[in-house]
Amino acid sequence: MSVFDDIHRTHYTDQVQETLIGQVVSIAGWIEDIRDIGKVAFLTIRDIRGAAQVVLSANTLSVAKDKPRQSAIIVSGVVQHSKSKDFPLEIKAEKVNIVTEAIHPLPIDPTGRVESAIDKRLDSRALDLRNPKTSSIFLLRSAVLDNIRTTLRSKAFVEVNTPKIIGSASEGGANLFGFEYFKKQAYLAQSPQLYKEQLILALDRVFEIGVYFRAENSHTVRHLTEFLSVDIEAAFINYEDAMDLAEEVIRNTFNVNKIIDRTDGDVLHDRLQLPTPRFPIDRLTYEQCIEGLWKEGEKLEFGEDLSDASLRKLGEIHKGFYFIKDWPLKLKPFYIHEKLDNLELSQSFDLQYGYLELISGGQRHHDPVKLRKRLIDQGLNPMNFDRHLRVFGWGMPPHSGWGLGFDRLMMVLTHSDNIRETVLYPRDTERLIP
Ligand code: 4AD
Ligand code: MG
Repeated sequence: MSVFDDIHRTHYTDQVQETLIGQVVSIAGWIEDIRDIGKVAFLTIRDIRGAAQVVLSANTLSVAKDKPRQSAIIVSGVVQHSKSKDFPLEIKAEKVNIVTEAIHPLPIDPTGRVESAIDKRLDSRALDLRNPKTSSIFLLRSAVLDNIRTTLRSKAFVEVNTPKIIGSASEGGANLFGFEYFKKQAYLAQSPQLYKEQLILALDRVFEIGVYFRAENSHTVRHLTEFLSVDIEAAFINYEDAMDLAEEVIRNTFNVNKIIDRTDGDVLHDRLQLPTPRFPIDRLTYEQCIEGLWKEGEKLEFGEDLSDASLRKLGEIHKGFYFIKDWPLKLKPFYIHEKLDNLELSQSFDLQYGYLELISGGQRHHDPVKLRKRLIDQGLNPMNFDRHLRVFGWGMPPHSGWGLGFDRLMMVLTHSDNIRETVLYPRDTERLIP
């Protein structure tokens, strides 16, 4: 590749190193800054991996001089030492190509010097991503997804994809988005729950990284109507085994070295400050949590769901990760198996980080007769599940699994207090665009 090829770079900015001094390189990105000091000007060019300083003079200065910030640019020139305090090296431009000029005023300042509220940033998300603080969230997100895939693949899980347009509810009746589908009633999938259970019948262990849709009229910093989940399901494991798997996946995502390996070069090295939670993760029972809350003066009955206020209180008592297991059966969906030594309780768990629920999981019913009864107990019509129940007659093994709210995990990893920071184009009750 020639360095004078007009649209190719030879190096990303972070690859311009000592060993290249005296050589001609070409970099490509966006003009972040121009400081014109008369006969020369200093240009800061940013690309996804960092920034570089370019020195302009004579011809190259006249090409770039008054060009608007954030214009797309390709520069080739010789690498040399720099006197600047921000850049040890710089590129003395020989050729400058302003490919497209940015149109001002821009809706937000992507350098972050002028801060904008999250809503304004989301309205101009593509530009917001030029801010390294924002882009690093999504570089990390990509690396973490890769890391989770590696962990699960190493444990014999098969990655699957199940339909998101479905004919009946997967998690019970509430929170479903319905729409007309060629004169039939259809829904957007709330989760891959029923499909993943069916698939372990032959594939043994499956996982899906896919979107959930929930018509949740929640206006909070942790609820969206469309969000990403990592779902797993495995045959011949119980809910303690499922917790072990969750713990291993989580532990690997907090291992900075494993994550760095999965990004190109050292881009995230300087930007990353992952939290350092304690492992192994405590496994508390629902009962222990309730007793803890009683001691703190919280008024709630055994068997009640944990309200937002109770969860906030629990999060103060237990910092970082903890499991809440053995929930009252009536609080859990129809597919969750009761405990064998206490029929009021279930073989279920949630993984919490402070007040935030990250995972729900458990052991499932594998006996179709019991499953049918549970549907009826929960006021659901088994007729609507006949295609699902039929599968259980084909030799359904005992099985367990979980669903991880991936965007919420990213909140924890990036210290974000709003889930919208970790999703490129979030969807909530108010937001449908961009
Ligand atoms: O707790 P949920 O509803 O569990 C299930 O859907 C089960 N089928 C999983 C299983 O295998 N048993 O959802 C799973 C996770 C939650 O723990 C939470 O982290 C996340 O999905 N989640 C949301 N994330 C963002 N916005 C919302 N509205 C969410 N609702 C749930
Ligand atoms: Mg849940």
